[in-house]
Amino acid sequence: MGGLGVKAAPFTYVSHVLAVVSAVLVLVWCIHFRGGLAFESSNKNLIFNLHPVLMLIGFIILGSEAIMAYKVLPWSHDVNKVIHLVLHAIAIVLGIFGIYCAFKFHNESGIANLYSLHSWLGIGTISLYVIQWIFGLVTFFVPGASPTFKRGALPWHVLFGLFVYILALATAELGFLEKLTFLEMGDVEKYGTEAFLVNFTALIVVLFGASVVVAAVAPAKVEETPEYSPLPDN
Ligand code: HEM
Repeated sequence: MGGLGVKAAPFTYVSHVLAVVSAVLVLVWCIHFRGGLAFESSNKNLIFNLHPVLMLIGFIILGSEAIMAYKVLPWSHDVNKVIHLVLHAIAIVLGIFGIYCAFKFHNESGIANLYSLHSWLGIGTISLYVIQWIFGLVTFFVPGASPTFKRGALPWHVLFGLFVYILALATAELGFLEKLTFLEMGDVEKYGTEAFLVNFTALIVVLFGASVVVAAVAPAKVEETPEYSPLPDN
């Protein structure tokens, strides 16, 4: 099968713009509309606010940059590989800290843990992300794996990596939906500015994720298109 016929570069530029827009929007939401961020506070909502900020900026955006590292950075493959690995590691640490903040908020407010689909998918996402990172480290970074094994493992690394990434995006979408639904059961107006802002942020995150996936799948250079031939039946 031929390639997509598009280069990764334009999609990486779009991704960067959407990353900045979504980061600004989540900060405006949590700081301006929700009162700010704090790790220790008598206002427990400020502890919760760290959760969306860390999950979007720390986990999803840094993870996206890690995914696009090979397509964006000008350095050698080996240097890009270290950056890919380190950015994913930072994303994991910030993601775990972000989840810890959600638990801290629940525990200090007397709210039950892990009752929602969002929280279950969240635990699944971070667990699979860590497993994917360890497999990547052992296979492609620690010397020892044979070139044949590495060649066979690479498409699975890409496929599984994109699956976990899309799971992270879906989890974040459920998080936005859930929090806004809670707020709308209180005093946040359904068609008000805040509701619009949260839904719009979640929409930008979808577009961001889509452009990261295309950037990851598209080649850095476009190959000559071979003659058309239909997909084989088997
Ligand atoms: C990939 C990103 C995310 C992951 C992995 C994740 C994971 C989690 C986990 C594991 C919990 C359970 C905490 C507990 O039970 O004490 C949780 C809670 C929560 N998260 Fe997220 N989250 C993510 C993004 C977001 C975003 C962007 C929002 C938007 C506001 C959000 C909103 C919430 C809410 C409202 C709760 C409390 C209610 C519940 O437990 O479902 N999350 N999250």
